[in-house]
Amino acid sequence: MAWCRSFALAAVLLGFLSCYAPVPSLASSGSDGFLQCLSAAMPKQLLYTQSSPSFTSVLTSSVWNHKFLAASTVRPFAIVRPTNASHVQAAVVCGSQNDVRIRVRSGGHDYEGLSYRSERPEVFAVLDLADLRSVSVDPKAATAWVESGATLGELYYAVSKASKLLAFPAGLCPTVGVGGHFSGGGFGMLVRKYGTAIDNVLDATLVDAKGRLLDKQAMGADVFWAIRGGGGGSFGVVLSWKVKLVPVPPTVTMFILPKSVDEGAIDILTKWQEVAPAFPEDLFINVVIAKQVAKFQSMYLGTCDALLPLMETRFPELGLNKTHCKEMTWIQSVPYIYLGTTATVEDILDRSTSASSSSKSTSDYVRQAITKDVWAQIFAWLAKPDGGVMIADPYGGKVSSFSESATPFPHRGGVLYNIQYMNFWPAATDGSAQTKWLKDLYAFMEPHVSQNPREAYVNYRDLDLGQNVVVGNLTSYKAAQVWGEKYYKDNFQRLAMAKGEVDPEDYFRNEQSIPPFVASKRR
Ligand SMILES: Cc1cc2nc3c(=O)[nH]c(=O)nc-3n(C[C@H](O)[C@H](O)[C@H](O)COP(=O)(O)OP(=O)(O)OC[C@H]3O[C@@H](n4cnc5c(N)ncnc54)[C@H](O)[C@@H]3O)c2cc1C
Ligand SMILES: *[C@@H]1O[C@H](CO)[C@@H](O)[C@H](O)[C@H]1NC(C)=O
Ligand SMILES: *[C@@H]1O[C@H](CO)[C@@H](O)[C@H](O)[C@H]1NC(C)=O
Ligand SMILES: *[C@@H]1O[C@H](CO)[C@@H](O)[C@H](O)[C@H]1NC(C)=O
Repeated sequence: MAWCRSFALAAVLLGFLSCYAPVPSLASSGSDGFLQCLSAAMPKQLLYTQSSPSFTSVLTSSVWNHKFLAASTVRPFAIVRPTNASHVQAAVVCGSQNDVRIRVRSGGHDYEGLSYRSERPEVFAVLDLADLRSVSVDPKAATAWVESGATLGELYYAVSKASKLLAFPAGLCPTVGVGGHFSGGGFGMLVRKYGTAIDNVLDATLVDAKGRLLDKQAMGADVFWAIRGGGGGSFGVVLSWKVKLVPVPPTVTMFILPKSVDEGAIDILTKWQEVAPAFPEDLFINVVIAKQVAKFQSMYLGTCDALLPLMETRFPELGLNKTHCKEMTWIQSVPYIYLGTTATVEDILDRSTSASSSSKSTSDYVRQAITKDVWAQIFAWLAKPDGGVMIADPYGGKVSSFSESATPFPHRGGVLYNIQYMNFWPAATDGSAQTKWLKDLYAFMEPHVSQNPREAYVNYRDLDLGQNVVVGNLTSYKAAQVWGEKYYKDNFQRLAMAKGEVDPEDYFRNEQSIPPFVASKRR
């Protein structure tokens, strides 16, 4: 079990650190010093440099966004694939001793690729956690320890093997990595019933910037608060998470019901905004909108017979009838929604991400229903030749029941729904038209969405919201406020204070990492 292993490691940690303390700091040789230091601490075959024959295949093994495969992408000079926690500790110690930063990768789904590329020229290494992915479930206690390199599909699969009546409330896409996903919040079809993934995290293990392996108690309340939603890549390397599993009935009812504009999509969507966040928590209906069609997708924690009268009372406009219902187990719903109606449960174990297209995404939160007239204009945007997709996920229920400061994820009471805007383009083209469409739609939406700040979801990362500026040796707090308050609202300052506690020298840094807040020398 992951926990036992971690605990044993914590005990040998001091010894480990003193082993490495005498290694001279080879600041001048940087990357060479890093590799030398690491090859003394872990098997050489777990280290890949650009001259290794398999470097490219290891690098691209979990790159979701095709555009970051381009030759112009700033790549790591090395990739480290740890197979145990002490390798991770060594990577951090060797990195900081040699002035080499590391970027941590779990599932590689970051929309901006921050887990494996840099926006500016930089010498860095990737710490790829793909081989730290065990899941151990305790069905009696309804808990599990999951390592960050596991995918959501692997987590869900292991939970369902242990019990048909347990689940975990996180995202829809089975190839998303636990490490990045939990770091930013994480929500899917159970969000109204059980909240986000991080609302169900009980404990975690973290390797900090000094290479120490810390559990919840050792990292302290501020840091444990920060890693649950404060975004990946800022506080250290989260190795594993202890989660609370949640009960699901033996049968859930799914439906996927497309409505075109001609079939009344605009009126139905207008009504959806009001009813979807207010349904009983057992009912989740989101909408995927593209071209002139709004596709309503639903999971109901119960049978079709129980769902139909509820829909008849609350949302008759959708016209749901028995023929639309598909009853199945919770685990069957995962491939059904995400991989298509013919996929099997085993398909959710497929880790390959096949980065076949490039994309750009951004997000909004809606707190006041958008008017029918505006929806008509949105459909005109979606009809454009280079138009993309909007996905609207309702909140309300459990996710909205927490205070804004309970976790760094602040999008709680009063949020009707989250919007994700996405546009895709074929690998061979540059996507300028699709990117422009997305930016123009985002500008158009401003008066209709949350304001002061205009909230955004960190897991739908968008570097156009703002990027860090380094002043002296530290990330500027002031510059980071621009994007940070969109993702975290008033929690941003507290996150910066937690960062100041756990990583005051700002070792874990990227284009949107949390800056260390030091009250006396505020930058
Ligand atoms: C196809 C697709 C579907 C998605 N569906 C959903 C959804 O349904 N719901 C939802 O909420 N989100 C969804 N997302 C967004 C997803 O949650 C984020 O992209 C998430 O950050 C990906 O996690 P990852 O481990 O795969 O990413 P990575 O690219 O590996 O990491 C993302 C960030 O976290 C950091 N990081 C990674 N691992 C660790 C770690 N162990 N410790 C510390 N920092 C770490 C990285 O350095 C990087 O900055 C989806 C994304 C995609 C591409
Ligand atoms: C981690 O792997 C190394 C070999 O690289 C081994 O020496 C060490 O004992 C392992 N540590 C644990 C805790 O398994
Ligand atoms: C169910 O609704 C669809 C339209 O979405 C309609 O074509 C079908 O006839 C309806 N079936 C029943 C049994 O009412
Ligand atoms: C940054 O830190 C290095 C040592 O790590 C030091 O030599 C340098 O002077 C610092 N620069 C600034 C601007 O503080």
